[in-house]
Amino acid sequence: MEQIKVLLNESDIPRRWYNLAADLPTPLLPPLGPDGNPVSPDMLAPVFPMNLIEQEVSAERWIDIPEEILNILYRWRPAPLRRALYLEKFLGTPAKIYFKDESVSPPGSHKPNTAVAQAWYNKQFGIERLTTETGAGQWGSALAFACKLVGLECKVFMVRISFDQKPFRKMMMGVWGANCVASPSSETNAGRHVLEKMPDTPGSLGIAISEAIEQAVTDTSGKTRYSLGSVLNHVLLHQTIIGLEAKKQLEMVGIKKPDVVIGCAGGGSNFAGLSFPFVADKINGADIKIIPVEPTACPTMTRAPFVYDFGDTACTTPLLAMHSLGHSFVPPPIHAGGLRYHGMAPLVCQAIVEGLLEPRAYHQLQSYEAAITWAGTEGFIPAPETSQALAAVIDEAKKAKEEGKEKVILFNYSGHGLMDLTGYDAYLSGRLTDYELPDEEMQKYLKDLEQLPKAEMRKTGKW
Ligand SMILES: Cc1ncc(COP(=O)(O)O)c(C=O)c1O
Repeated sequence: MEQIKVLLNESDIPRRWYNLAADLPTPLLPPLGPDGNPVSPDMLAPVFPMNLIEQEVSAERWIDIPEEILNILYRWRPAPLRRALYLEKFLGTPAKIYFKDESVSPPGSHKPNTAVAQAWYNKQFGIERLTTETGAGQWGSALAFACKLVGLECKVFMVRISFDQKPFRKMMMGVWGANCVASPSSETNAGRHVLEKMPDTPGSLGIAISEAIEQAVTDTSGKTRYSLGSVLNHVLLHQTIIGLEAKKQLEMVGIKKPDVVIGCAGGGSNFAGLSFPFVADKINGADIKIIPVEPTACPTMTRAPFVYDFGDTACTTPLLAMHSLGHSFVPPPIHAGGLRYHGMAPLVCQAIVEGLLEPRAYHQLQSYEAAITWAGTEGFIPAPETSQALAAVIDEAKKAKEEGKEKVILFNYSGHGLMDLTGYDAYLSGRLTDYELPDEEMQKYLKDLEQLPKAEMRKTGKW
């Protein structure tokens, strides 16, 4: 029998995070304030604690992981690397498919890798309460879990459509002691404003972020901060433990490098977490195809322009240089709730501009089909977001078969779908449809960006 599980001991856990900002051939464009000038770290201080702001702006290649954070992560890390041998056989592909299993964390996804780190740094800084947004509920439940273990209060604004579709995530947050409300809510000015104009809105991550930031910065005690589950540099940094573990595990089975690396991308953190250590290898000459995957309903990387835009609907965040569908974009209610963000992590976007990544979009039905194939071969039920990556994995494995090449495909199994069964139910009963964002619709949202500073596309032309 061939080896399926590749396991590391606790003593093998990576002790430093990897920061791609140190190695990008063209540096990131700076975040800008409302006046069009770069924001200074102290301008972010009402929103984030200074220890995380330092990581956000750091150009150091390696950043030590505090022992106390590792002590929490040991509950499920190092996470297994598994070989999808049964799927390989089913597809009859010569490719070897490996996946990093992030579904084994207590909340069931990659999200706690940064939730634990962020909660811990906030606690160190003397913060008592965190606010956040959540789409599918994965991030909200991860932060609720982390706050419980670290000893912080947690308030979660959950996008209305997911709040209704996924009640079990809200219950999980309750188990870990967090308070979760549907967004837009009547608790904030940002929420009330949206509700007045669109009482039946399904909500969006952009609106929920506005609400969470507003509650953090208006707490006059100064003991509340905001926490973001993706997009920002420090979030992607914390996730790199995934790719660093995967590298060690591939070496254990004699694989020097994967040929293809795949991850789904909502704000970019699980994709970046797995891929950035391999992007570093690619920058240094390795031949690796690296594919971030998104839904056709929210085609940020494959169709949206590279622009300066706000991270939220109420325009409270700094302007970030990223691919964006426009901060007022309200995505259609597809089931991959975590992939419905209008923007994308600036680090991922700069790597796209540089030509280091090959983004791809898939329809919802093809993703569910891939998920059903996976569940019928490997047995596990994937999260709808993870299923988007699976659609690309299956395509790449079929391509390897056509070419007769024994490629190594590595992907991030970012979460399980056991809390997302309503989506499967809708698929199995034929109630799901595909959706491709019409061009006119996209242009409508992009109009809002005309007055904002322009982002320069800088690249070396090497890739
Ligand atoms: C299981 C799962 N995978 C992927 C994502 C996408 O987020 P990100 O791009 O930040 O990894 C989410 C977001 O909620 C998720 O829940």
